Amino acid sequence: MAIEIVTTSEPLHALAGSIVLPVVPEFRLDGSIEDSEDRLGSWVAAAAHAAGVSGRVGQVAAVPPPAEWPAERLVLAGLGTPEQRTLADIRRVAALTAKVTTDAGGRILVWPVAGLLRHPIESVVQAIVEGVGLASYRFHRYRSSDAASRIQQLVVAGMGSAIETGIRRGRIVYDAVNFARDLTNEPGNLLDPERLSGIAWEVAQEVGLQCSIYDRALLEELGAGAILAVGQGSRREPRLVHLIYRPTEPVLTRVALVGKAVTFDSGGLSLKPAEGMERMKGDMAGGAVVLSVLRALPALDLPIEVHGIIAAAENLPDGDGFRPGDILRTLSGKTVEVISTDAEGRLLLADALTYAVQQDAHLLVDIATLTGACAVALGRGGSGLFATDERARDLLLRAASEVGERIWPLPLWDEYRDLLRSEHADLKNTAGRWGAAINAALFLREFTGGRPWLHLDIAGPAWTDQAGPFGPPGATGHGVRTLLRFLELWTEQASGDNEGEAR
Ligand code: BES
Ligand code: MN
Ligand code: ZN
Repeated sequence: MAIEIVTTSEPLHALAGSIVLPVVPEFRLDGSIEDSEDRLGSWVAAAAHAAGVSGRVGQVAAVPPPAEWPAERLVLAGLGTPEQRTLADIRRVAALTAKVTTDAGGRILVWPVAGLLRHPIESVVQAIVEGVGLASYRFHRYRSSDAASRIQQLVVAGMGSAIETGIRRGRIVYDAVNFARDLTNEPGNLLDPERLSGIAWEVAQEVGLQCSIYDRALLEELGAGAILAVGQGSRREPRLVHLIYRPTEPVLTRVALVGKAVTFDSGGLSLKPAEGMERMKGDMAGGAVVLSVLRALPALDLPIEVHGIIAAAENLPDGDGFRPGDILRTLSGKTVEVISTDAEGRLLLADALTYAVQQDAHLLVDIATLTGACAVALGRGGSGLFATDERARDLLLRAASEVGERIWPLPLWDEYRDLLRSEHADLKNTAGRWGAAINAALFLREFTGGRPWLHLDIAGPAWTDQAGPFGPPGATGHGVRTLLRFLELWTEQASGDNEGEAR
């Protein structure tokens, strides 16, 4: 259900619904509402004191409104000092105000924006819209009764074109994240590689992307032996999806986003333990992020060409499944000895990266729920970044910090490459438990054709077992916001380079 987002120039004390009042430390009202007399200031100070809201970021409490206000409630929201307040703070507080409001049964949320400065008003509005849109996410399509309350209308108290732009961009972003969450939360029985490719096809028609889909026969013709092997144990056949966003303006550069989409990962013959295996329906999170980013691109109108390449397969044990010891011929021509059928993601990505190189992408970016080891190293909160290009790495880290996703660099140590040596093939697909996230990345590097490459291991943050400010347990859509921002920054940089050449 989409949230209706409107703007108003009415004063807060004339509005219905749940009205957010930003509170800063020392019980001072933020500048946004200072105008409505000191009376309100002291009223809020007293209410905030009583509710335990001192103004620190993240403190949020609902209180009854002053008697003469038509509002249902006021939502006092600690926003910290203006000097220290980041956009990520605003996004998180906006999410918390949505949660407090819906927990109290409210459906209309009013956010004043005028006083939240230090940031461009457009970015402030975008952060508020994102926070509310992410917090309102639910995956209830398979519940018979959906009684959950949700924000139905967000009222942005303020007017002007910057506010409209902020709303538009915020909506693009939260919708992209929530679309990826929807795909990732879908269970393995209902979202298999064929269905995923069908959705990609529909998305492409809807927003205007080019789309090609390789089924089993076409993958055989192509020579994608690794994708075929991973999908071999499932009656639901694998797919390679290739989406292209082509800008209306001349192309500055060509980027390929490559996603792992294992619609269910049982481990195959190297079977995983039963405990928690249900979470492996989310092993297509990387592919979901890629599809979702491509879906959002036409609305952002960037002058770069972006290819979305999604390798989809289901990893099941079967009489016809691939086995440890098997030697596969990958699309690149390199052979791989399978040590564990549970290290299937890197096999899919090997062929998908080669395919991206064949498209002559100038930069490869892959995203995958690749290794438990990465989640062990960084925890469930953040993903690991591996890079062969410093400029791209720095821009990706900048994008992540701007949008408030935790992404941290990990090394590609050449010495470890020896661990992937195989007696009978060019490479083997695992190298033991130590440094498993690094070894997986080194394996992938073999298939990047020496092109600038970024690899995001999202095994930790793609999924959460706990409800948080941005919504219920389940898929998080981690990576969508960073990649969208990264593509903007990469475009800026590419246009800078092009100007340099022209001079
Ligand atoms: N999909 C898993 C990685 C994973 C684990 C994602 C936990 C999310 C949460 C991947 O296919 C896998 O099984 N990796 C193995 C690699 C090992 C066999 C070298 C792992 O991490 O144990
Ligand atoms: Mn696996
Ligand atoms: Zn997997």
